Amino acid sequence: MNIEIFNTLSDLNRSFTDWLKEIMEEKETVTIALSGGSTPKSLFDYWATLPEGEIDWKKIKFFWGDERCVPPTDEESNYRMTKEHLFDFVPVTQANIFRIMGENEPVEEAIRYGEILQNELEKVKGTPSFDIIMLGMGDDGHTASIFPYEMILWDSAKNCVTATHPQSGQKRVSLTGKVINSSRNVVFLVTGSNKAEKVKEIISDPDLAAKKYPAARVQPDSGSLHWFIDDKAAHQLTSRS
Ligand code: 6PG
Repeated sequence: MNIEIFNTLSDLNRSFTDWLKEIMEEKETVTIALSGGSTPKSLFDYWATLPEGEIDWKKIKFFWGDERCVPPTDEESNYRMTKEHLFDFVPVTQANIFRIMGENEPVEEAIRYGEILQNELEKVKGTPSFDIIMLGMGDDGHTASIFPYEMILWDSAKNCVTATHPQSGQKRVSLTGKVINSSRNVVFLVTGSNKAEKVKEIISDPDLAAKKYPAARVQPDSGSLHWFIDDKAAHQLTSRS
């Protein structure tokens, strides 16, 4: 588990981008599952301002770790957020965007997307394997859309499942632990003081935390697990209290 703590979002975004560029040099095409929510907005906005050619966007196939079951035009859509903060500004190849179709019936979409992953990705022991999975973490310790009260979904034999947000009841489609832990590289992007408690619990005692929080179950078989966190989210890790 590689942990990097940053005083500013711009330092975090720069370092993450340098890390991404190193991974991208290894392959002709790179498959990335993006995280949703609000944290990636800062990174996507940074990528949107990079000099032309700094990242070869045409090398990347874009997927998502989860999606809200809403239309792609809905303000809750992770795809819409990515389009508004990134795709509208950089020359991605439209055919390389594999969005989870939130407008579809959730159970059917989980099956459809699971088949997309099976067809589009390299396999490790029969399981689709991303080059990179970007993950966020909720202040309850969820990741992708696997919530603590539905931890059983993490262990599903499927590639994708449907989940339900505990507060809003919103339906989600999410990757499962099987696919997440099959990735060549897994990277958490976690910022903000509201995440500090869970960051401390998960990083200081991952095995105990794994009993409670899906984010602690992220233990890729490849061993390549990176945390890019800001000083606010790392506050309880670094403070003496
Ligand atoms: C989503 C995300 C989810 C997110 C965390 C953190 O669809 O919401 O994929 O897993 O990463 O909830 O969200 P914030 O970045 O908004 O804190």
